[in-house]
Amino acid sequence: MAALEKNIPYHVGIIMDGNGRWATKRGLKRSMGHKEGAKNLKTLVEHIFKSGVKVLSLYALSSENFKRDSEEVNDLMNLFMENFKKEFSYLKEQNIKVVFSGRREPLREDVLASMDKITKETKNGNLAILNICLNYSGQDEIVDATKKIANLVVNKELAINEINKDTIYHYLYQDLPPVDFIIRTSGEYRISNFLLYQASYAEYYFPKVYFPDFNQKEFDMALMEYQKRNRRFGGNAK
Ligand code: FPP
Repeated sequence: MAALEKNIPYHVGIIMDGNGRWATKRGLKRSMGHKEGAKNLKTLVEHIFKSGVKVLSLYALSSENFKRDSEEVNDLMNLFMENFKKEFSYLKEQNIKVVFSGRREPLREDVLASMDKITKETKNGNLAILNICLNYSGQDEIVDATKKIANLVVNKELAINEINKDTIYHYLYQDLPPVDFIIRTSGEYRISNFLLYQASYAEYYFPKVYFPDFNQKEFDMALMEYQKRNRRFGGNAK
């Protein structure tokens, strides 16, 4: 375990892919795969923060996922509600600040109310940040930040030549540091609109397992792979 103590990525993002295939392979409804994925989350999140990661972004639902059939979307909303209710006190007790990234429309009222409650009640958490990307699109996030900045310029609260990389960061859904390491399960090699601005120098890792099978051991293997990478941020090779 000694190797895990050094060079821990500060901000990790996970694209929790393959729930549907996990279920289909077992002759189950796709929603059962999401349920199994959610079951896996608590121990995994706990383990990731114990490893020293300070910010964890989870891709819970993309804006594009709303094109799926309404039964699957509705089952997912119910699953979010169930998990928010079940895990909320644990997150608060653990001093984890929960934030959400994404557009509010067309999320259900009960889901929005639950998200607002969790945000409010965990806002003083100072151990780590759990960023749940729900109804999220990286392109929309940049569009929404641009609109906020344009508005400031129009109202003469910001000069055009004052806009820099940090200004954009500041007006994204959450003012979080760049993402260091992105893991996408299920063997697909795509970024799918996840943290586009924040991922400029992220390292990527694509384990073959479906998300419900991405356990602590799998995360440790991912971390060991990260620790072998030589991050140069555009500079010279050492
Ligand atoms: C992608 O797999 C996964 C999703 C669209 C949903 C992920 C949600 C969870 C794991 C539940 C999270 C719960 C909380 C509380 C954050 P897919 O359906 O695209 O899989 P496939 O590619 O095999 O079809």
